[in-house]
Amino acid sequence: MSLAAHYLQLRDAHVAAVIASGSLFCARGALALARWRHVMHPVLRYGSMAIDTVLLAAGITLMFVIHQYPFADGWLTAKLVLLVVYIAFGTFALKRARTQGQRATCYLLALATFAYIISVAIAHDPRGIFMLAR
Ligand code: HEM
Repeated sequence: MSLAAHYLQLRDAHVAAVIASGSLFCARGALALARWRHVMHPVLRYGSMAIDTVLLAAGITLMFVIHQYPFADGWLTAKLVLLVVYIAFGTFALKRARTQGQRATCYLLALATFAYIISVAIAHDPRGIFMLAR
């Protein structure tokens, strides 16, 4: 049986991992802002890595199923670039920021980037949510 036959399951797995990853980051970022000491606890760190691996693996598999690729299809290029931006802001929000101000700013920018990636995925267009403003 071909991978394409599992399109719906793959998309459900991708979207479920998106929800789990976003919710976990949202909670950890808020707890980091509240100076909770266990934000980098191995269970949370490895749990988050496991979820993100599923997210990425399902995303890459879907890419082959629908025959659309980064650097060929604008919306997937945008998703990939924004994923790097999201990871960078997320890393600062959870561990690298030196002040609470930096932490809060990076947290909000990471969440905004994440929401924008979702809008790009739904629109299949790099303009994402901004398409509504046409
Ligand atoms: C934080 C990162 C990501 C988020 C928030 C995200 C979000 C989403 C969402 C919400 C959908 C469902 C869209 C719909 O049902 O209309 C989706 C679909 C998809 N995503 Fe992602 N995604 C992310 C990362 C990736 C990555 C890294 C790739 C691959 C390079 C990828 C490839 C895909 C593909 C191919 C689809 C299927 C679109 C379709 O079948 O029409 N995603 N993504």
